Amino acid sequence: MAGALAILKDIFRSRFPEAAAPRLFRAPGRVNLIGEHTDYNLGFVLPIAIDYACYTASAANGRGELRVYSETMGQGREWPLEGLAGVPPSGDWSDYPLGVANQLLRAGYDIPAVDLAIHSTLPLGAGLSSSAAIEVAAALALLGGREIEPRELALLARRAENQFVGTPCGIMDQYVCVHGEAGSAIEIDCRDVTHRAVRLPEAVRVVAVNSMVKHELGGSAYVDRVRECSEAVAAIAERFPDVQSLRDIDSERLQSLRPSLRELPFHRARHVTTENGRVHAFVAAAAHGDLRRMGALFIASHRSLQYDYEVSCAELDFLVDTALTIPGVYGARLTGGGFGGCTVNLVAPEALPQFEERMRGSYQAKFGIDPQIFPCDAAAGAGEIFE
Ligand code: GLA
Repeated sequence: MAGALAILKDIFRSRFPEAAAPRLFRAPGRVNLIGEHTDYNLGFVLPIAIDYACYTASAANGRGELRVYSETMGQGREWPLEGLAGVPPSGDWSDYPLGVANQLLRAGYDIPAVDLAIHSTLPLGAGLSSSAAIEVAAALALLGGREIEPRELALLARRAENQFVGTPCGIMDQYVCVHGEAGSAIEIDCRDVTHRAVRLPEAVRVVAVNSMVKHELGGSAYVDRVRECSEAVAAIAERFPDVQSLRDIDSERLQSLRPSLRELPFHRARHVTTENGRVHAFVAAAAHGDLRRMGALFIASHRSLQYDYEVSCAELDFLVDTALTIPGVYGARLTGGGFGGCTVNLVAPEALPQFEERMRGSYQAKFGIDPQIFPCDAAAGAGEIFE
């Protein structure tokens, strides 16, 4: 973190030389352990916040403008505060800070005239939730220390993503970014928008492996899955009117509908119902330190995403299948939306060097790509940094 802060302060000083010493904020990325594509179906997810994060620095500029500079993009934008609420999205990175400014205004907060610099240590498009991190880090900077309920902050950042950026994501990424806890995963109930912390056994490392690919298909397929799930709910509700989301149906009732449901909605719904069950089973296994069971649930989750939900791709399947041949690996699965991005692996600490070497060697030989490998510790959620 010290290195990232030093970079951030340098950028701030060189972009905004006349500004006072800035306030500093951090918002982490995440790795989802289990519960994939369940959040927008109002089910359960179990992510950890990670040490890789988005950092923002902000100070008043007294110019009646919001000025934002992204170090990652090497670009700046400025908007007069007057009329800010009416500025439309432009389809690039600036929609994240502008989207949260827009939502803050709607929620009744005024936006101060500030200079804001952004620096992220999260790889973009890797499925580690760099978007939620920039949203939350920008929101904290624009709030400048004003009080906001953590849950409200997460909901507000999600609205920026849904309504301004235009991605119909669930609540997982923004919520864990705000509520993450060092040493624990967060089990989120996405219907109630509440959580509880789940301690992870110490005898295992969580390791993300970045496939370094992001298939174009990803964005449109995500929208398709959201739609397919609501179509599945509509079909199920014809028989079981109490079902308002895929959260409300268990595997047994779903199975009883198999003859009357079309194949595709059945498979999508089966993924979601079984995945919700796997989250609960994983939490129970973690409480007992049952690493084998945790690993088996990872593998079952991946197969369900691969065959029932169809959001995997050749690179992710290869990374998972390769990991499972390495001694000391308990389980592996894709994490995040799919179609590229990262896998998450449960690895015995002593097996880590061999894991890294074998994963690198195999992936390089098969796809000619060097994967990034991130051993991850569960980190704290977003907040101001006081030095
Ligand atoms: C993306 C979305 C999340 C969630 C995952 C899949 O990361 O932003 O809300 O739906 O995909 O679990």
